[in-house]
Amino acid sequence: MRYLTFALAKGRLADKTLAMFEKIGITCEEMKDKGSRKLIFTNEELGLRFFLAKASDVPTYVEYGAADIGVVGKDTILEEGRKLFEVLDLKMGRCRMCVCGPKEAEERLKHHELIRVATKYPNIAKDYFKNIKHQTVEIIKLNGSIELAPIVGLSEVIVDIVETGSTLRENGLTVLEEVCDLSARMVVNQVSMKMEHERIAGLIGKLKALIQEENR
Ligand code: PRP
Repeated sequence: MRYLTFALAKGRLADKTLAMFEKIGITCEEMKDKGSRKLIFTNEELGLRFFLAKASDVPTYVEYGAADIGVVGKDTILEEGRKLFEVLDLKMGRCRMCVCGPKEAEERLKHHELIRVATKYPNIAKDYFKNIKHQTVEIIKLNGSIELAPIVGLSEVIVDIVETGSTLRENGLTVLEEVCDLSARMVVNQVSMKMEHERIAGLIGKLKALIQEENR
């Protein structure tokens, strides 16, 4: 049996995904050793391999077939724009992509002024302002702590993920507009979907039933 390879986005999402997989009988004991520096883990019995990657790299591994299956946030899928099949909403890691800033920035958004937008997601921001809002903006790419940008005067607004809203609140910022809802998704390589259809469809079926049960 050929290995089915999974690329998981490192961090909280990978832990939640593995907990979910355990419930449908997919375990990977090797991965539970947090002290390990190993990058790839196998379950010989089930013919499965798992590796952890930076979230933004997961769609790349899946598009090229280095992983058959990936689990990653919808934010990353939209931003990376890779060729892959998005097969399942895992309904976890739910949050929103929003335009945020100080309350005063609301007027500048409304009047379609030429504003600066700081974000870790330039493609999502570009698409939103160009195709949805029809507003010309200058996008500034940042790599983290995006909320800093309007505070120190780098930009008028930001496009960023809002989960609990506490980062915004603690920094005197607010949600000005909603771009889209986000959650963790399962993605599949387009060739693997055909070649390994039975195994992958079986896995999707089991996960779907579990998600339905847990979200009832
Ligand atoms: C994310 C996001 C916000 C924050 C939102 O940042 O970019 O800053 O979480 O969560 P909240 O609404 O619950 O406060 P992350 O912690 O991933 O770090 P980052 O600064 O590297 O983006």
